Amino acid sequence: MHKIIFHHVGGDTDIVETQAGVSVMHAAVHNGVTGIVGECGGQAMCATCHVLVREPYVDRLPPIGEDEEEMLRCTASPRDGQRSRLGCQLLIGTDLEEVEVDVPGSQV
Ligand code: FES
Repeated sequence: MHKIIFHHVGGDTDIVETQAGVSVMHAAVHNGVTGIVGECGGQAMCATCHVLVREPYVDRLPPIGEDEEEMLRCTASPRDGQRSRLGCQLLIGTDLEEVEVDVPGSQV
């Protein structure tokens, strides 16, 4: 199992354990983590799965794809450089063994 820690505004955290190959967005949505919407179902077409990846995981992320880059221009909360990623494009167990992310204050 692989661990994802979601840090919410205000200090609450959710810890989710998931199987390899599951995206950060799907892990959040299937485990009732608030603040991750996933409106387009993971097609990189909505930006409602925006997360801010914490150190030291930022340096281990795969490159940002063209579609992801385009959607990161449409996030409801401000983008924060390389920390900002679409949760649907980050696969646990493939891209990362584990990860910690901050959930933005707003996704819509
Ligand atoms: Fe829509 Fe990630 S779920 S862009």
